[in-house]
Amino acid sequence: MTDRPATDTRTGGPAVVGTKPGDRQPADVRHSDLAIGIDFGGSGIKGAVVDIRTGQLVGDRLRIATPQPSVPRDVVAVTDELVRRLVAPWDPIQGDVFPVGVGLPAAIRDGVTLTAANIDPAWIGFAAERELELATHRIVAVGNDADVAGLAEIRFGAGRYQRGLVMVLTIGTGIGTALFIDGRLVPNTELGHLEIRGHDAEERAAESARERLGLGWREWAAGFDEFLHELERLFWPDLFILGGGASKRADNYLSYLTVKTPIAIAILRNNAGIVGGALIAHERRVRATVAAAGEPVP
Ligand code: BGC
Repeated sequence: MTDRPATDTRTGGPAVVGTKPGDRQPADVRHSDLAIGIDFGGSGIKGAVVDIRTGQLVGDRLRIATPQPSVPRDVVAVTDELVRRLVAPWDPIQGDVFPVGVGLPAAIRDGVTLTAANIDPAWIGFAAERELELATHRIVAVGNDADVAGLAEIRFGAGRYQRGLVMVLTIGTGIGTALFIDGRLVPNTELGHLEIRGHDAEERAAESARERLGLGWREWAAGFDEFLHELERLFWPDLFILGGGASKRADNYLSYLTVKTPIAIAILRNNAGIVGGALIAHERRVRATVAAAGEPVP
């Protein structure tokens, strides 16, 4: 856990420092543009306050170990704790209204998690959005973790200005996929579960599979490449963006990939889930504000 961030004398909130999107950079912070993004991973639940205009983190990125087993009740409690710590440096008048967006490794509809491939089965049918709102007393939005990370890459990272069909893959414990058409998300694609040789693709192509099966990079890349070929054959994407843990070590396997589709490496890396979480939180806040004003919700 890091120390409290330095205070910015202009805003009364934590200072913003850094150089690239998803990182921290000097900026004029407008409180109505700030939201909290939370990324629920297998080993850690990470979060930060984000300026959604720039995708930059404001103040510290905090992390609490993921409870084991990762049952919904405990994850909700840890998320609430993380939110409290994130807003602690802020004036309560500002911090108390930051909305929260959480990326969860499941297909999600209407705020309810519908699957649980790499998490506790108790997540199936869990009203995640409602329970998180009750716990944190804030506006909360939840989305599939890959969709959320993909949104951040499309808005601020490797998918910026990309038209056509872009497929963002997050390669970690599982494989998450996010499909974009001209920058618009088609939610809940679960293509890591595409069946290849009688198995879920992620069983062989996720980063965790490399570790579990003790594969060298070339061997692992052969399985991952097979998965990409299958996606290429079925979707004809204009671009693959590779994100998640394995994107940090792309130099180890990029040269083994043989698909024709151009491949870009995610720019926001570890922060994509947090930045995307903040984006969906902000969208939900806007919708809630419009609804409260009695206007038609966009
Ligand atoms: C889950 C997806 C998730 C992906 C990455 C898969 O096993 O089914 O919902 O996006 O892992 O976490």
